[in-house]
Amino acid sequence: MGYTRSLLTFLFAAAPLAVAFAQNADAPAAAETPAAAPAPAEAAAPAVAVPATAAVCAACHNMDGNSILPEYPKLAGHHPEYLLKQLRDFKPVGDKPPVRDNAIMLGMIAALSDEDMVELSNYFAAQTPTIGEAKPETLELGKNIWQGGIPAKGVPACAGCHGANGSGMPTQYPRLSGQHPEYVVAQIQAFQTGTRKNDLNGVMQDIAQRLTPAEMQAVANAIAGLH
Ligand code: HEC
Ligand code: HEC
Repeated sequence: MGYTRSLLTFLFAAAPLAVAFAQNADAPAAAETPAAAPAPAEAAAPAVAVPATAAVCAACHNMDGNSILPEYPKLAGHHPEYLLKQLRDFKPVGDKPPVRDNAIMLGMIAALSDEDMVELSNYFAAQTPTIGEAKPETLELGKNIWQGGIPAKGVPACAGCHGANGSGMPTQYPRLSGQHPEYVVAQIQAFQTGTRKNDLNGVMQDIAQRLTPAEMQAVANAIAGLH
């Protein structure tokens, strides 16, 4: 316990140096929060030709991969390998239901070849992601879960796999930074109920079992402004 406590203290103390959580303007700390700006590495992403098939996707995900409606995930800046895995996972193999079962995306990928999927993944991955804003109310709880997990319940720190600033780790661990909170909560719920079961070794299904609805909301809120 003493070790865990001092480790967590270290994590909390060290984190603000490298990580920022953008907040709403009415948040007390807003004055010292710099405007959200893309990290240099992201801004320097090489231009990728727009695939003809991307026009269909733009209806929900936007041409630059930063969807406006919160139920549609942002695709911009994801690792291309992650996007490609998701597109393949939406497709049923034989008579088995797809490992990521979603009626809308099932319709979208039905006519795509694997080559189309590779092109689309590379294109959306190369777009510059936007960052949202966290609401101040539950930000502290959300940040704590992100950076330190919930040791008493065996919930590991999200940062351990998704990266301190949420930019993910290629190729398995997706970017979460700036993702719409409504979408993030919906995915954690889907992992909890087993509607989504395409995570390696069931790692997200296991974590989702241990989170209450309030904890899911809080961590999703923190993720919205994380960069
Ligand atoms: C009618 C709206 C709509 C259109 C058009 C659409 N999508 Fe989606 N997309 C969704 C929804 C909704 C989800 C979330 C599915 C879920 O909840 O599992 C999603 C999820 C995804 C994901 C997974 C993202 C993640 O973070 O895991 C990828 C990748 C994706 N879409 C790519 C595409 C591509 C490529 C196209 C064009 C061929 C496309 N989508 C067209 C609605 C749409
Ligand atoms: C041990 C590693 C690990 C930890 C710790 C972890 N995740 Fe994940 N997470 C994953 C993997 C792997 C995936 C991608 C699964 C796939 O391939 O579709 C994922 C996917 C997700 C997704 C779906 C992303 C999308 O674009 O659809 C969300 C949301 C998520 N994680 C939230 C969290 C939160 C919140 C925490 C902390 C409470 C957390 N994760 C901790 C490994 C981890």
